Amino acid sequence: MAIPKPYFSIVLPFGLFSVVLLLNYIVVLVSSSYSFHNQVVNEENENDLLLLHQDYTPPAPPPPPPRPPSVLSCEEDLGGVGSLDTTCQIVSDLNLTKNMYIEGKGDFFILSNVVVNCGFLGCELAVNVGGNFTMGDLSFIYAASFELLANSAYFGNGSVVNTSGLAGEPPAQTSGTPLGLNGAGGGYGGRGAACVMDKEKLQEDVWGGDAYGWSLLEKPWSYGSKGGTTSKEMDYGGGGGGRIKLSLVTNLEVNGSLLADGGDGGSHGGGGSGGSVYIKAFKMTGSGRISASGGTGLGGGGGGRVSVDVFSRHDDPNIFAHGIICRICST
Ligand SMILES: *[C@@H]1O[C@H](CO)[C@@H](O)[C@H](O)[C@H]1NC(C)=O
Ligand SMILES: *[C@@H]1O[C@H](CO)[C@@H](O)[C@H](O)[C@H]1NC(C)=O
Ligand SMILES: *[C@@H]1O[C@H](CO)[C@@H](O)[C@H](O)[C@H]1NC(C)=O
Ligand SMILES: *[C@@H]1O[C@H](CO)[C@@H](O)[C@H](O)[C@H]1NC(C)=O
Ligand SMILES: *[C@@H]1O[C@H](CO)[C@@H](O)[C@H](O)[C@H]1NC(C)=O
Repeated sequence: MAIPKPYFSIVLPFGLFSVVLLLNYIVVLVSSSYSFHNQVVNEENENDLLLLHQDYTPPAPPPPPPRPPSVLSCEEDLGGVGSLDTTCQIVSDLNLTKNMYIEGKGDFFILSNVVVNCGFLGCELAVNVGGNFTMGDLSFIYAASFELLANSAYFGNGSVVNTSGLAGEPPAQTSGTPLGLNGAGGGYGGRGAACVMDKEKLQEDVWGGDAYGWSLLEKPWSYGSKGGTTSKEMDYGGGGGGRIKLSLVTNLEVNGSLLADGGDGGSHGGGGSGGSVYIKAFKMTGSGRISASGGTGLGGGGGGRVSVDVFSRHDDPNIFAHGIICRICST
């Protein structure tokens, strides 16, 4: 059977430099045989391109209701120093127990070594500031969804925004999590992998979770999916990758890591699929790591999606969105 190839497409709308990275269909046990092919498409035939794929995504839902005006205070609610309308600095570790929407006109800093932890499944953290956003060296953010609107953003050396394995629900009517008890990987940007458990079937006929979200290709904003389990009682599947969206008016510098990888399913579950990273900025620098890859597991998770839309890019960040093959494929 033909091996579906991953593809890498470069889209050039309105002269902006825009990359949609999609590594789909990583095939069980054939990791060495996949390859990229490059395609330059305009907006019109990009739609044709999308039509070539089955689309599991229902028509776009209506836009969410506007968020309530923020009533957060830098000092009282975030334990920080200063004010959200001038300069707010998060100076010590912060544990969030509910979704958080931070808004102000000023600059926002998470100082070096500080951990902002919104580490429950589906936790949404949004920061909307008129000034610049800075994460100091070795600072951390854990959340399922991290959305940033700012003038510029700086991610210091060793800083990490980690949404790996923390996904909330994938879009309605998608089937990223595989059925059955094969411990297959979750799907999203690509299909998950599955190991043959049934001697009657050929390896290439066995797949994990489905791919979905084609209609959001240029602005990916779906969670990854959980991997399958091998047990009726225990859910061993790795969690789906989360979502990161950065919308900057001017500069983005990434010396740290922006992670939306699928979670690890261990030896009894499938890996979660990678989530989404969407970046829009005027200028991008830094050589950090941006990743929405599938998690490891009995069957590996499918790749997620990364889209980078910048007018000028100066350094080469390391961008990954690949799927993972089976780790343990004994039958
Ligand atoms: C945050 O929670 C972790 C455990 O989840 C705990 O170890 C840490 O002390 C907490 N930090 C703060 C500032 O509450
Ligand atoms: C915010 O970033 C811009 C560049 O994008 C820079 O010109 C400006 O000085 C920065 N503001 C502060 C307060 O650092
Ligand atoms: C990123 O790394 C470069 C090169 O090491 C350095 O010049 C720059 O100041 C760093 N920026 C941040 C935000 O850490
Ligand atoms: C970044 O941090 C790593 C260790 O976390 C260190 O080895 C490296 O020298 C640092 N690079 C810069 C430019 O500060
Ligand atoms: C990100 O989170 C995942 C899941 O909790 C963890 O396995 C991984 O080590 C983390 N990566 C970094 C760089 O913190």
